[in-house]
Amino acid sequence: MATSKHLQFVANHAIALEVRQGLSANPKHLPSKLFYDEIGSALFEQITDLPEYYLTRTERSILEIYAGEILQQAGPSLTLIELGAGTACKTCILIEELLRRQSRALFYPIDVSSSALNEAVRQLGRQSPGVRVNPIVADYTGGVPALSRISGRKLVLYIGSSIGNFEPHEAIGILRRLRRTLRPGDALLLGADFAKSPKLLVPAYDDAQGVTAAFNRNILARLNRELEADFRLEEFRHVALWNRRLSRMEIYLESAIAQAAFLAAIDMDVSFERGERIHTENSYKYTHDMLDSILRGSGFTLEQSWCDRQKWFGVHLARV
Ligand code: AVI
Repeated sequence: MATSKHLQFVANHAIALEVRQGLSANPKHLPSKLFYDEIGSALFEQITDLPEYYLTRTERSILEIYAGEILQQAGPSLTLIELGAGTACKTCILIEELLRRQSRALFYPIDVSSSALNEAVRQLGRQSPGVRVNPIVADYTGGVPALSRISGRKLVLYIGSSIGNFEPHEAIGILRRLRRTLRPGDALLLGADFAKSPKLLVPAYDDAQGVTAAFNRNILARLNRELEADFRLEEFRHVALWNRRLSRMEIYLESAIAQAAFLAAIDMDVSFERGERIHTENSYKYTHDMLDSILRGSGFTLEQSWCDRQKWFGVHLARV
């Protein structure tokens, strides 16, 4: 018997279609946006605290050290906007610094999840009462026309290395659509992970406690819950590989045995050979040249970069 949740998922025809296409393809793949249901988002929060996952704490430390310089470089009288803000927990570092420089601050967090935005409003209201928070529920990847109606100088935060989960041409598309809603003098602050040794990268995506493995398997658990599928999660191995040629981490689910699954809600059979993989995510790791070409390709000019002492992670200010 289909619950309203199942029906909602099936009604989201585009996603059901992507699942069907991805599992019929050779090699098989699934869209990484499927990671982020309530369980997946909670697992991702856990990932950000793992000892191996250096990204979040390194970016946070860069923001803590350089918030003043970043805002100085961005220009006076700023309105902050954040793409894919979630609960906006790193953003309060910049908001606090902004409130030291100007008496009032406006913050527009953008996210598909209204519950994450409600949490952002609640937390910021408690921590930084001087900021007015205007949440926008939207998928920023398609562009957010409402941004062009915001007056004053804007600083758009796109932090957390989220850009890395898109193919370079998709990243350029997202930034191009964003740029169309900005005016000359507005700026983008982009957080991106640098290419580095696989000795650091592989454990960051295949941690000892198995949290990333659970995060990856949740994509199948979600198909079980929402598309009435019968994937045997314990028969899929989490695999994380460094692809040096494409400068990206690649995440897969590898079938440990020859097996089949049935997705009742979309009436689909899918079979796996032993060792066959489903590609679930890419996480691009950038060189300076890659970043420069993505920013230039989308009409931004890279102005200044800040990074940690080990050069693991960078935060980049680009101007319209
Ligand atoms: C959300 N995103 C930036 C994470 C990353 O590092 O690419 C997602 C993630 N996948 C596995 N671990 C973390």
